[in-house]
Amino acid sequence: MSTLVHEGSALAYRLQQQLLVTVCGVTQRIARRALLDEREEFTSTELHALRRRHGALLQRDLENVRAGVYPRSLLFGLPWQRYARLLPRLARDVPHMMERKKRGGWRDLPADVDVRRYPPYYRRTFHWQTDGYLSEHSAELYDVSVEFLFGGMADVMRRQCLVPLHAAAQASTRPLRILDVGCGTGRTLAQIAAAQPAAELAGVDLSPFYIERARAELPHAELVAGNAESLPFADASFDAVVSVFLFHELPRHARRTVWAEARRVLRPGGRFIVVDSVQRSDSQEIAYFVDRFSRDMHEPFYREYIEDDLAAGLRGEGFAIESVEPAYLAKVVTARTPHPGAATP
Ligand SMILES: C[S@@+](CC[C@H](N)C(=O)[O-])C[C@H]1O[C@@H](n2cnc3c(N)ncnc32)[C@H](O)[C@@H]1O
Repeated sequence: MSTLVHEGSALAYRLQQQLLVTVCGVTQRIARRALLDEREEFTSTELHALRRRHGALLQRDLENVRAGVYPRSLLFGLPWQRYARLLPRLARDVPHMMERKKRGGWRDLPADVDVRRYPPYYRRTFHWQTDGYLSEHSAELYDVSVEFLFGGMADVMRRQCLVPLHAAAQASTRPLRILDVGCGTGRTLAQIAAAQPAAELAGVDLSPFYIERARAELPHAELVAGNAESLPFADASFDAVVSVFLFHELPRHARRTVWAEARRVLRPGGRFIVVDSVQRSDSQEIAYFVDRFSRDMHEPFYREYIEDDLAAGLRGEGFAIESVEPAYLAKVVTARTPHPGAATP
Protein backbone atom coordinates (compact mmCIF):
# COMPACT_ATOMS: atom_id res chain seq x y z
CA MET A 1 0.00 0.00 0.00
CA SER A 2 2.72 2.47 0.98
CA THR A 3 4.60 1.62 -2.25
CA LEU A 4 1.43 2.53 -4.16
CA VAL A 5 1.23 5.85 -2.31
CA HIS A 6 4.90 6.51 -3.15
CA GLU A 7 4.33 5.64 -6.82
CA GLY A 8 1.19 7.77 -6.97
CA SER A 9 2.82 10.85 -5.52
CA ALA A 10 5.96 10.37 -7.63
CA LEU A 11 3.79 10.39 -10.75
CA ALA A 12 1.80 13.42 -9.57
CA TYR A 13 5.04 15.24 -8.76
CA ARG A 14 6.59 14.51 -12.15
CA LEU A 15 3.40 15.66 -13.91
CA GLN A 16 3.32 18.87 -11.88
CA GLN A 17 6.96 19.65 -12.73
CA GLN A 18 6.56 18.77 -16.41
CA LEU A 19 3.55 21.05 -16.66
CA LEU A 20 5.42 23.89 -14.95
CA VAL A 21 8.53 23.64 -17.11
CA THR A 22 6.46 23.49 -20.31
CA VAL A 23 4.09 26.36 -19.49
CA CYS A 24 6.88 28.63 -18.20
CA GLY A 25 9.18 27.76 -21.15
CA VAL A 26 6.52 28.44 -23.82
CA THR A 27 5.43 31.70 -22.15
CA GLN A 28 9.03 32.92 -21.93
CA ARG A 29 9.66 32.09 -25.59
CA ILE A 30 6.54 34.02 -26.66
CA ALA A 31 7.43 37.01 -24.47
CA ARG A 32 11.01 37.08 -25.75
CA ARG A 33 9.83 37.05 -29.36
CA ALA A 34 7.02 39.59 -28.90
CA LEU A 35 8.78 42.09 -26.67
CA LEU A 36 12.44 41.75 -27.66
CA ASP A 37 12.22 40.19 -31.14
CA GLU A 38 14.67 37.48 -29.98
CA ARG A 39 14.68 33.82 -30.94
CA GLU A 40 16.23 30.82 -29.17
CA GLU A 41 19.20 29.23 -30.94
CA PHE A 42 20.19 26.19 -28.89
CA THR A 43 21.06 22.83 -30.46
CA SER A 44 19.14 19.62 -29.81
CA THR A 45 22.21 18.27 -27.95
CA GLU A 46 22.13 21.25 -25.57
CA LEU A 47 18.39 20.87 -25.03
CA HIS A 48 18.81 17.15 -24.38
CA ALA A 49 21.54 17.86 -21.78
CA LEU A 50 19.30 20.40 -20.05
CA ARG A 51 16.40 17.92 -19.93
CA ARG A 52 18.69 15.22 -18.57
CA ARG A 53 19.77 17.48 -15.71
CA HIS A 54 16.12 18.41 -15.07
CA GLY A 55 15.09 14.73 -14.88
CA ALA A 56 18.08 13.85 -12.69
CA LEU A 57 17.16 16.49 -10.11
CA LEU A 58 13.50 15.40 -10.01
CA GLN A 59 14.68 11.83 -9.45
CA ARG A 60 17.02 12.93 -6.66
CA ASP A 61 14.25 14.99 -5.07
CA LEU A 62 12.00 11.92 -4.93
CA GLU A 63 14.81 9.76 -3.55
CA ASN A 64 15.49 12.32 -0.82
CA VAL A 65 11.84 12.14 0.25
CA ARG A 66 11.92 8.32 0.22
CA ALA A 67 15.09 8.39 2.34
CA GLY A 68 13.36 10.65 4.90
CA VAL A 69 15.63 13.64 4.26
CA TYR A 70 12.62 15.94 3.91
CA PRO A 71 8.84 15.55 4.00
CA ARG A 72 6.73 14.73 0.94
CA SER A 73 4.76 17.94 1.51
CA LEU A 74 7.73 19.91 0.10
CA LEU A 75 7.21 18.28 -3.31
CA PHE A 76 3.83 20.01 -3.49
CA GLY A 77 4.75 23.04 -1.39
CA LEU A 78 4.50 25.92 -3.89
CA PRO A 79 2.09 28.57 -2.58
CA TRP A 80 -0.17 28.23 -5.61
CA GLN A 81 -2.87 30.61 -4.41
CA ARG A 82 -0.44 33.42 -3.66
CA TYR A 83 1.38 32.91 -6.98
CA ALA A 84 -1.89 32.79 -8.94
CA ARG A 85 -3.01 36.01 -7.26
CA LEU A 86 0.29 37.72 -8.20
CA LEU A 87 0.45 36.54 -11.81
CA PRO A 88 -1.58 39.44 -13.30
CA ARG A 89 0.72 41.90 -11.48
CA LEU A 90 3.78 40.08 -12.80
CA ALA A 91 2.35 40.09 -16.33
CA ARG A 92 1.85 43.88 -16.10
CA ASP A 93 5.43 44.27 -14.83
CA VAL A 94 7.17 42.22 -17.56
CA PRO A 95 6.87 44.87 -20.35
CA HIS A 96 8.46 47.43 -17.99
CA MET A 97 11.34 45.03 -17.31
CA MET A 98 11.85 44.45 -21.04
CA GLU A 99 11.76 48.19 -21.73
CA ARG A 100 14.33 48.70 -18.92
CA LYS A 101 16.53 46.01 -20.46
CA LYS A 102 16.34 47.63 -23.94
CA ARG A 103 17.31 51.03 -22.57
CA GLY A 104 19.91 49.65 -20.10
CA GLY A 105 18.15 51.25 -17.12
CA TRP A 106 20.15 49.52 -14.39
CA ARG A 107 19.99 52.57 -12.12
CA ASP A 108 16.16 52.76 -11.95
CA LEU A 109 15.92 52.52 -8.16
CA PRO A 110 13.10 54.03 -6.08
CA ALA A 111 13.58 57.77 -5.44
CA ASP A 112 12.54 57.45 -1.77
CA VAL A 113 15.32 54.95 -0.90
CA ASP A 114 18.67 56.30 0.31
CA VAL A 115 20.86 54.08 -1.87
CA ARG A 116 24.06 55.35 -0.18
CA ARG A 117 23.24 52.92 2.65
CA TYR A 118 24.02 50.02 0.31
CA PRO A 119 27.30 48.89 -1.29
CA PRO A 120 27.78 50.20 -4.86
CA TYR A 121 27.50 46.70 -6.38
CA TYR A 122 23.98 46.41 -4.92
CA ARG A 123 22.60 49.70 -6.26
CA ARG A 124 21.13 48.28 -9.45
CA THR A 125 18.07 46.63 -10.94
CA PHE A 126 19.27 43.01 -10.78
CA HIS A 127 17.33 40.84 -13.31
CA TRP A 128 16.00 44.18 -14.68
CA GLN A 129 13.39 43.77 -11.96
CA THR A 130 11.40 46.85 -10.99
CA ASP A 131 13.08 48.68 -8.04
CA GLY A 132 15.95 46.14 -7.86
CA TYR A 133 15.67 44.59 -4.39
CA LEU A 134 14.52 47.82 -2.84
CA SER A 135 10.73 47.95 -2.57
CA GLU A 136 7.73 46.09 -1.24
CA HIS A 137 6.56 45.61 -4.84
CA SER A 138 9.84 43.82 -5.70
CA ALA A 139 9.64 41.64 -2.55
CA GLU A 140 6.05 40.66 -3.41
CA LEU A 141 6.85 39.59 -6.98
CA TYR A 142 10.26 38.01 -6.39
CA ASP A 143 9.25 34.43 -5.47
CA VAL A 144 6.80 33.96 -8.30
CA SER A 145 9.16 35.57 -10.86
CA VAL A 146 12.08 33.32 -9.91
CA GLU A 147 9.89 30.22 -9.95
CA PHE A 148 8.59 31.27 -13.39
CA LEU A 149 12.14 31.91 -14.64
CA PHE A 150 13.33 28.44 -13.54
CA GLY A 151 10.21 26.60 -14.76
CA GLY A 152 9.14 25.50 -11.27
CA MET A 153 12.62 24.31 -10.25
CA ALA A 154 13.73 27.18 -7.97
CA ASP A 155 12.46 25.63 -4.73
CA VAL A 156 13.68 22.20 -5.87
CA MET A 157 17.23 23.54 -6.34
CA ARG A 158 17.07 25.49 -3.05
CA ARG A 159 16.02 22.46 -1.01
CA GLN A 160 19.06 20.41 -2.04
CA CYS A 161 20.79 22.15 0.89
CA LEU A 162 18.58 19.98 3.09
CA VAL A 163 20.68 16.90 2.26
CA PRO A 164 23.89 18.04 4.03
CA LEU A 165 21.76 19.67 6.75
CA HIS A 166 20.11 16.30 7.37
CA ALA A 167 23.55 14.69 7.74
CA ALA A 168 24.57 17.43 10.18
CA ALA A 169 21.38 16.95 12.23
CA GLN A 170 21.89 13.16 12.33
CA ALA A 171 25.39 13.66 13.71
CA SER A 172 24.31 16.18 16.34
CA THR A 173 22.96 15.50 19.82
CA ARG A 174 20.99 18.79 19.92
CA PRO A 175 18.93 20.82 17.43
CA LEU A 176 21.04 22.74 14.92
CA ARG A 177 21.43 26.50 14.80
CA ILE A 178 21.28 27.46 11.11
CA LEU A 179 21.87 30.80 9.37
CA ASP A 180 20.75 31.61 5.80
CA VAL A 181 22.95 34.35 4.31
CA GLY A 182 21.20 36.37 1.57
CA CYS A 183 17.96 34.69 2.64
CA GLY A 184 15.77 36.91 0.43
CA THR A 185 12.08 36.38 1.16
CA GLY A 186 12.74 33.17 3.10
CA ARG A 187 11.89 30.38 0.63
CA THR A 188 14.92 28.31 1.70
CA LEU A 189 14.37 28.92 5.42
CA ALA A 190 10.72 27.85 5.07
CA GLN A 191 11.84 24.54 3.57
CA ILE A 192 14.51 24.10 6.26
CA ALA A 193 11.81 24.71 8.91
CA ALA A 194 9.67 21.94 7.36
CA ALA A 195 12.57 19.46 7.27
CA GLN A 196 14.24 20.41 10.57
CA PRO A 197 11.36 21.59 12.80
CA ALA A 198 13.53 21.65 15.95
CA ALA A 199 16.29 23.78 14.38
CA GLU A 200 16.84 27.38 15.48
CA LEU A 201 16.75 29.50 12.33
CA ALA A 202 18.24 32.87 11.46
CA GLY A 203 18.47 34.80 8.21
CA VAL A 204 20.17 37.95 6.98
CA ASP A 205 19.59 39.96 3.82
CA LEU A 206 20.51 43.46 2.67
CA SER A 207 16.97 44.24 1.56
CA PRO A 208 14.74 45.37 4.44
CA PHE A 209 11.77 44.79 2.15
CA TYR A 210 12.69 41.15 1.53
CA ILE A 211 13.35 40.63 5.25
CA GLU A 212 9.89 42.04 6.00
CA ARG A 213 8.35 39.56 3.58
CA ALA A 214 10.37 36.70 5.16
CA ARG A 215 9.15 37.72 8.64
CA ALA A 216 5.55 37.31 7.51
CA GLU A 217 6.33 33.69 6.49
CA LEU A 218 8.68 32.75 9.35
CA PRO A 219 7.52 34.31 12.63
CA HIS A 220 9.89 32.15 14.72
CA ALA A 221 13.12 32.84 12.84
CA GLU A 222 15.58 35.60 13.78
CA LEU A 223 15.58 37.73 10.62
CA VAL A 224 17.91 40.69 10.28
CA ALA A 225 18.35 43.31 7.56
CA GLY A 226 22.11 43.62 7.19
CA ASN A 227 25.18 43.14 5.05
CA ALA A 228 26.58 39.62 4.75
CA GLU A 229 30.03 41.22 4.56
CA SER A 230 29.79 42.00 8.28
CA LEU A 231 27.38 39.46 9.75
CA PRO A 232 25.59 40.70 12.87
CA PHE A 233 26.22 37.44 14.75
CA ALA A 234 28.79 36.23 17.29
CA ASP A 235 31.83 34.10 16.43
CA ALA A 236 31.22 30.31 16.35
CA SER A 237 27.48 30.77 16.95
CA PHE A 238 26.08 28.49 14.18
CA ASP A 239 26.30 24.78 13.36
CA ALA A 240 25.53 25.44 9.70
CA VAL A 241 25.46 28.41 7.35
CA VAL A 242 23.48 28.15 4.12
CA SER A 243 23.57 30.54 1.18
CA VAL A 244 21.39 30.20 -1.89
CA PHE A 245 21.79 32.13 -5.18
CA LEU A 246 23.81 34.90 -3.53
CA PHE A 247 27.39 34.56 -4.75
CA HIS A 248 26.76 35.00 -8.48
CA GLU A 249 25.48 38.49 -7.61
CA LEU A 250 28.61 39.60 -5.73
CA PRO A 251 31.90 40.92 -7.08
CA ARG A 252 34.91 38.74 -6.20
CA HIS A 253 36.12 40.86 -3.28
CA ALA A 254 32.67 40.78 -1.62
CA ARG A 255 32.36 37.04 -2.16
CA ARG A 256 35.63 36.48 -0.30
CA THR A 257 34.58 38.76 2.56
CA VAL A 258 31.28 36.88 2.97
CA TRP A 259 33.08 33.52 2.98
CA ALA A 260 35.41 34.79 5.74
CA GLU A 261 32.36 35.96 7.68
CA ALA A 262 30.63 32.59 7.25
CA ARG A 263 33.74 30.91 8.59
CA ARG A 264 33.84 33.29 11.58
CA VAL A 265 30.22 32.62 12.67
CA LEU A 266 30.50 28.83 12.19
CA ARG A 267 31.59 26.65 15.08
CA PRO A 268 34.67 24.47 14.41
CA GLY A 269 33.59 21.58 12.18
CA GLY A 270 30.43 23.49 11.14
CA ARG A 271 29.07 23.22 7.61
CA PHE A 272 28.89 25.95 4.99
CA ILE A 273 26.40 24.90 2.31
CA VAL A 274 26.29 26.95 -0.89
CA VAL A 275 23.64 26.49 -3.57
CA ASP A 276 24.35 28.62 -6.63
CA SER A 277 24.57 28.59 -10.39
CA VAL A 278 26.74 26.02 -12.14
CA GLN A 279 30.06 27.42 -13.36
CA ARG A 280 31.91 27.06 -16.67
CA SER A 281 34.00 24.10 -15.50
CA ASP A 282 30.92 22.01 -14.65
CA SER A 283 28.51 23.16 -17.35
CA GLN A 284 30.02 22.85 -20.86
CA GLU A 285 27.04 20.79 -22.04
CA ILE A 286 24.53 23.51 -21.09
CA ALA A 287 26.76 26.51 -21.87
CA TYR A 288 24.04 28.05 -24.09
CA PHE A 289 21.54 28.25 -21.22
CA VAL A 290 24.15 29.50 -18.75
CA ASP A 291 25.16 32.26 -21.18
CA ARG A 292 21.52 33.07 -21.91
CA PHE A 293 21.00 33.87 -18.23
CA SER A 294 23.65 36.59 -18.36
CA ARG A 295 22.26 37.90 -21.68
CA ASP A 296 18.64 38.04 -20.45
CA MET A 297 19.21 39.31 -16.95
CA HIS A 298 21.06 42.27 -15.52
CA GLU A 299 23.70 40.22 -13.70
CA PRO A 300 26.93 42.23 -13.89
CA PHE A 301 29.06 39.83 -11.81
CA TYR A 302 27.75 36.58 -13.27
CA ARG A 303 30.40 36.34 -16.04
CA GLU A 304 33.31 36.46 -13.60
CA TYR A 305 31.41 34.15 -11.22
CA ILE A 306 31.03 31.40 -13.85
CA GLU A 307 34.70 31.59 -14.81
CA ASP A 308 35.67 30.96 -11.15
CA ASP A 309 35.32 27.78 -9.13
CA LEU A 310 33.32 27.93 -5.90
CA ALA A 311 34.99 24.94 -4.28
CA ALA A 312 38.49 26.28 -5.04
CA GLY A 313 37.52 29.70 -3.66
CA LEU A 314 36.20 28.19 -0.43
CA ARG A 315 39.30 26.04 -0.08
CA GLY A 316 41.38 29.21 -0.41
CA GLU A 317 39.38 30.67 2.48
CA GLY A 318 40.36 27.75 4.73
CA PHE A 319 37.32 25.48 4.29
CA ALA A 320 37.60 21.75 3.60
CA ILE A 321 35.32 20.65 0.74
CA GLU A 322 33.03 17.76 1.66
CA SER A 323 31.06 17.44 -1.60
CA VAL A 324 30.01 19.14 -4.83
CA GLU A 325 26.68 17.93 -6.25
CA PRO A 326 24.95 19.02 -9.47
CA ALA A 327 21.36 20.28 -9.13
CA TYR A 328 19.95 21.13 -12.61
CA LEU A 329 21.14 24.72 -13.31
CA ALA A 330 22.74 24.91 -9.88
CA LYS A 331 25.19 22.98 -7.75
CA VAL A 332 25.51 22.36 -4.03
CA VAL A 333 28.92 22.83 -2.47
CA THR A 334 29.29 21.58 1.12
CA ALA A 335 32.33 22.83 2.97
CA ARG A 336 33.44 22.51 6.60
CA THR A 337 35.43 24.67 8.93
CA PRO A 338 38.46 22.90 10.38
CA HIS A 339 38.49 21.61 13.97
CA PRO A 340 41.07 23.33 16.17
CA GLY A 341 44.44 21.63 15.81
CA ALA A 342 43.42 19.96 12.52
CA ALA A 343 45.93 20.10 9.65
CA THR A 344 45.19 22.92 7.14
CA PRO A 345 42.94 21.46 4.37
C1 LIG B 1 19.21 36.15 -6.15
S1 LIG B 1 18.65 36.66 -4.59
C2 LIG B 1 18.56 35.10 -3.69
C3 LIG B 1 17.62 35.19 -2.52
C4 LIG B 1 17.29 33.86 -1.84
N1 LIG B 1 18.44 33.26 -1.24
C5 LIG B 1 16.62 32.91 -2.81
O1 LIG B 1 16.99 31.74 -2.86
O2 LIG B 1 15.68 33.34 -3.47
C6 LIG B 1 20.07 37.40 -3.87
C7 LIG B 1 19.74 37.95 -2.48
O3 LIG B 1 20.96 38.35 -1.88
C8 LIG B 1 20.75 39.58 -1.21
N2 LIG B 1 22.06 40.24 -1.11
C9 LIG B 1 22.85 40.69 -2.11
N3 LIG B 1 24.00 41.20 -1.62
C10 LIG B 1 23.93 41.05 -0.27
C11 LIG B 1 24.81 41.35 0.81
N4 LIG B 1 25.99 41.93 0.61
N5 LIG B 1 24.42 41.06 2.07
C12 LIG B 1 23.21 40.46 2.30
N6 LIG B 1 22.35 40.14 1.32
C13 LIG B 1 22.70 40.43 0.05
C14 LIG B 1 19.73 40.31 -2.05
O4 LIG B 1 19.05 41.31 -1.33
C15 LIG B 1 18.83 39.16 -2.49
O5 LIG B 1 17.78 38.95 -1.59
